Amino acid sequence: MRPELSAIVESPLVQIATAAEAMPGSIKLCYGESDMPTAGFICRAADAAARAGHTFYTHTAGAPELRETIADKIRELQGVSYHPSEVMATVGGTMAIHVALRALVGRGDSAVIVSPAYAIYVNSVAMSGGEPRQVPLSANGARFSLDLDRVERAIDANTRVIVVNSPSNPTGWMMTDDEQRALAGIAARHGVVVLSDEVYERLTFDAAIAPSMARWIDDKDRLIVVNSFSKTYNMTGWRLGWAQASESIIRTLYKAAEFITSNPASIVQHAGIVALRDGEAYVRDLRAHYAARRAQVTAALRVVPGVTLPEPLGAFYAFPHLAGVTNSTMVAADLLRATGVAIAPGTAFGPSGEGSIRLCFAASEATITEALQRLVGYLEDAL
Ligand SMILES: Cc1ncc(COP(=O)(O)O)c(C=O)c1O
Repeated sequence: MRPELSAIVESPLVQIATAAEAMPGSIKLCYGESDMPTAGFICRAADAAARAGHTFYTHTAGAPELRETIADKIRELQGVSYHPSEVMATVGGTMAIHVALRALVGRGDSAVIVSPAYAIYVNSVAMSGGEPRQVPLSANGARFSLDLDRVERAIDANTRVIVVNSPSNPTGWMMTDDEQRALAGIAARHGVVVLSDEVYERLTFDAAIAPSMARWIDDKDRLIVVNSFSKTYNMTGWRLGWAQASESIIRTLYKAAEFITSNPASIVQHAGIVALRDGEAYVRDLRAHYAARRAQVTAALRVVPGVTLPEPLGAFYAFPHLAGVTNSTMVAADLLRATGVAIAPGTAFGPSGEGSIRLCFAASEATITEALQRLVGYLEDAL
């Protein structure tokens, strides 16, 4: 086995979830997905697509109608213009991230990754033979912020890409305009590409939307945006996402994807068109639901002595820091054993996540109420 692959460690999230599944009465808040099934109007669209004969291969980059609908949505939401040929449908945001990093980074190259972060970036860079350089966010109690000096210092002549995810999994941090402008400036100065993972773009609490890096970087050869249907429409299992970049980057990515996944499922692509066209009321309701859950979680955790919880500004995670905790993996295992609540240890998101835990609050009010009762009781004893 190649060391680049055999060195990958199984996600601690999978280990915790597997242990939780064997425990009757456990509550799984460890994964990054909602407990709500996909909406009926999207399921019906998939059924109609199958019956209408959308059962063949499409172009690797997706059916033309889907690429057009995505380009229209980008314009409507972000006010930036992408031609359908600058958009490519992928098998989840996962595939877009992997193929983009595969295209950008090779042996001897490095990627600067704003952390704590979803483990896919570090692993995709490592699988490409490159060096992931994690740059931690600064945390000053109430909020996270981007340490621009550290980002700039991490870049050298071999750095090919800066990876940033806002709104962020796991922290809920959302880049400010100033941070976006400054990051765009750093990337331009050093001639590196920005890979901007915007899969939580619509799941914001105090802003209508998280502004895309595409508002700050005009040169589409210098920016790859990744997005997904998974979080916005509760379609995690359908595996549909997209990448946006210059036509020439997109051509490179789909030429590679042809021999990795080929196109995302045709039926799913057609359901995705309907989600984008008819899903606005659904997204509005979802945002309100998550806002209420955020309020529940922050109110309950903030009053626990030893817990510091920066306000999640987007996505659907709380990332409380626990005073005195130096092994969050042990805390996660012990919490599960003692209470049946499964959360993710902060180290699953890189060394800068140590001392914190991540809980996903995309669940019903009753589930979150029960989980918080158990979690708060545990933390009050443990901290
Ligand atoms: C930040 C981030 N990016 C990308 C993904 C991948 O999502 P998907 O492949 O389901 O579109 C996830 C999933 O948890 C995520 O949290």
